[in-house]
Amino acid sequence: MKIEFAASRPAPTTADPAVLALPVTKGASLAGLVEGADALVRGAAAAQRFEGDAGSAAEVHVASGEGTRRVLLLGVGAGDDAAYERAGGALVARLLTSGATAAVADLSGVDAVSAARFAAGAAQRSWRFDAYRTRLPEKQKPTLATLTVVGDDSAYAPRAAVTDGLALARTLAALPPNILYPETFVERVLAAVDGLGLEATVLDEEEMRALGMGALLGVSQGSRREARLLALKWNGGGADAPLTALVGKGVTFDTGGISIKPAAGMEDMKWDMGGAGAVAGAMLSLATRKAKANVIGVMGLVENMPDGNAQRPGDVVTSMSGQTIEVINTDAEGRLVLCDCLTWVQRTHAPTTIVDLATLTGAMIVSLGNEFGGLFSNDDALADRLLAAGRASGDQLWRFPLTDAYDKLIDSAIADMKNVGPRGAGSITAAQFLQRFVEKGVAWAHLDIAGMVWADKDGPTWAKGATGYGVRVLDRYVADVCEG
Ligand code: BES
Ligand code: MN
Ligand code: ZN
Repeated sequence: MKIEFAASRPAPTTADPAVLALPVTKGASLAGLVEGADALVRGAAAAQRFEGDAGSAAEVHVASGEGTRRVLLLGVGAGDDAAYERAGGALVARLLTSGATAAVADLSGVDAVSAARFAAGAAQRSWRFDAYRTRLPEKQKPTLATLTVVGDDSAYAPRAAVTDGLALARTLAALPPNILYPETFVERVLAAVDGLGLEATVLDEEEMRALGMGALLGVSQGSRREARLLALKWNGGGADAPLTALVGKGVTFDTGGISIKPAAGMEDMKWDMGGAGAVAGAMLSLATRKAKANVIGVMGLVENMPDGNAQRPGDVVTSMSGQTIEVINTDAEGRLVLCDCLTWVQRTHAPTTIVDLATLTGAMIVSLGNEFGGLFSNDDALADRLLAAGRASGDQLWRFPLTDAYDKLIDSAIADMKNVGPRGAGSITAAQFLQRFVEKGVAWAHLDIAGMVWADKDGPTWAKGATGYGVRVLDRYVADVCEG
């Protein structure tokens, strides 16, 4: 779907009068909304119980020239910019496959940020993954080809960049694991960011072995696919600006390894690379909108398989940091991948701040379901900034504790630590494990996004499936904190 901005409302053509969408704040009068159709509009709104709540919509057909025109009332609640984003999503949810080919949303008089979020919400809600549907019934195919937003376009470009980042993250999560594996993840991301001015580094297994990344490589050892580390660096802040690192778990398929997962639902583990996908999407967004900040995105890419060569429960591996790890459960692989990525980025790029994202624990879904990502941090200021960016962007976060008592739970009898703790507090002990790889003076936050990468029902700006969670909060954090 194409988004266009216009300064004034285009006249409807008789052949194909575009659907006209009009925002309505909660409780606002509907008089004068559609010229000469007050009673009709009021009646339709009442019949559909439409009161202007954010995300709600009502339809009415009004006379127009020789024929009729479809008018969509879009609730924008109190009229804040987040409500406009939801309204844009609601428009597309209604019209995308409805037969309508064009829509005009009249947002004249609405502020530029709200207009931009409306357009972005619409664009984001229109994303679909039909690459492998060769027999899609006609009626399920999208019809809506253009949305014309009548209003101020001055804030739209950066929001369009985030939308592109979301699309990349969603595509990566949606791709099947026979197609997307470490090498093809790298290929696809490099193709997507080509020409944007990002500095790319790709490490293969031999290079990672030379660096001593035994924890990451231990996970990969049972797979026929070679592991990769992908780093993308954006230098938009100038030589003296501090560096922020984004680190993502990119397990392109997680069978659990020798500690194999049950068959039911295992196909979900194709999106166990959602953290790395969010990092790729955020880097694409930052580079596209030329963010005035220095940011490096690091993606640890492996496949976790059972095999004659797979690592065993009981194995001890040596991480790049030199710390040794007793692998109690080969299904707790994400932390093994991330710990070497954390050490690599600190040793090679010395960031002042690190935010990692990972579909790390099923326990996170037990705690927060599919509404919030879990936030863990060694730094209150960083945590507060991420919480604020989460609220503002729509990618909500909720903070959990880290303490020495939790840390003790992963002490090992044979090595420096083990990769799992006891049954309780599984998300926290996973975060404590990562914290052992954060060097002194570095502000670090870990986002456990296990419940957020995939949705089994439609959301305000996504259809069920890949959500792209993480891209928006990362982009917002960089905009407000690193560029602000
Ligand atoms: N990728 C999983 C976590 C996960 C589960 C993400 C479900 C999304 C949905 C992770 O690698 C894993 O298997 N974690 C284990 C850890 C346990 C062995 C300590 C888990 O959560 O069961
Ligand atoms: Mn696992
Ligand atoms: Zn996993």
